[in-house]
Amino acid sequence: MSVFNQVVLAPDDPILGLVEKFKQDPRENKINLTIGIYADANGKVPVLNVVKKAQDALFAEAKPHVYLPMHGLQMYNNSVQRLLFSEHNSVIAENRLATVQTLGGTGALKVGADFLSQLFAEKLPTVHVSDPTWDNHRAIFKGAGFKVEAYPYFDSETGGVRFDAMIEYFKALPVNSIIILHACCHNPTGADLTDAEWKTLAEVVKEKSLMPFLDMAYQGFAQGVQEDAKAIHIMTDAGVPVLIANSFSKSFSLYGERVGALSVVTKSAEEQVRVTSQLKKMVRANYSSPPEFGAAIVGHVLSNDTLRQEWFDELAEMRIRIHAMREKFTALLNEGQTKKDFSFIKQQQGMFSYSGLTQEQAQKLRDEHGVYILDTGRICIAALNEYNIIQSAQAIIKIL
Ligand code: LMR
Repeated sequence: MSVFNQVVLAPDDPILGLVEKFKQDPRENKINLTIGIYADANGKVPVLNVVKKAQDALFAEAKPHVYLPMHGLQMYNNSVQRLLFSEHNSVIAENRLATVQTLGGTGALKVGADFLSQLFAEKLPTVHVSDPTWDNHRAIFKGAGFKVEAYPYFDSETGGVRFDAMIEYFKALPVNSIIILHACCHNPTGADLTDAEWKTLAEVVKEKSLMPFLDMAYQGFAQGVQEDAKAIHIMTDAGVPVLIANSFSKSFSLYGERVGALSVVTKSAEEQVRVTSQLKKMVRANYSSPPEFGAAIVGHVLSNDTLRQEWFDELAEMRIRIHAMREKFTALLNEGQTKKDFSFIKQQQGMFSYSGLTQEQAQKLRDEHGVYILDTGRICIAALNEYNIIQSAQAIIKIL
């Protein structure tokens, strides 16, 4: 009898499992609105011009492929820090930010989860995620030994945030409770907090000594690169400790290169050195050190003023195209039927919209129309274009 006889089949991942199913679907007119990948007006995942330029420069250098240190490429980490905070911010000026390069945003969450689990080893606090959240949040923190619970977040009536309920929930939490927050472009709902709400939240975090962990996988997809980092600035201005997971998968269209970072805002330069040493230890125990190429591309672009500006412009193009698709999709859906008002799609931010469609409707969309959205009703607006938007809207209207 095989030792693996008792291994049970793992259920499909709610996002990546559907991507697999989509690939196997033989229908020619199928449409993939599942995973958070930006596709351009022609339905292609773009290679940014700044990425091409950086690649050319790196290939020309033809450096040997040595190991990176555990914390990754230092020039990349410096660039990340400048993207999260301006260099005038006291966090940077006082050398209080501990940053390590990670395997995408997921890697940052994992290293952060391990760090917190070690920090609180004597009495693990509970991790609180938004209801709903990116499915992998639960898996990552459960995997690091935490109990995971959900705080009130999405208001399905308004398509916005249940802010008062969320604040009441946080006020009742014990000290050191870890709260996972989406810095911008909430995944999966697209419903974000206002500046005033972030400020109120920061006060509660401070008063109750909570531990905020900000996940920022979509910087630049809501309002702009600096604007989208405002949650981080508000939290740090309040003087609370903050962990930040950021990713360049979407903003540089570098999905497969796994380029992310974990940053921890500390109280002093001396504390930063100790925290960094622990983050390096977590990296070593997970995967030793990160890969170089993607981080070298991002670092090359961000450390050059001209290229950085070009990147801002290319990112703005993506952001503007998504906004245009939101407008058009809303109009197509609202003009084509009277059962449901889809105006909330225009208000939501980032790549996704939480459509309110049920699991049965999502299934029907896939089975009968070849339009793939997640079972939760999440639609990737960033994958819509002039060629597939009408077919997608018509399919939704048919299954309502
Ligand atoms: C998503 O939510 O679709 C993306 O963040 C990709 C992923 O890994 O789930």
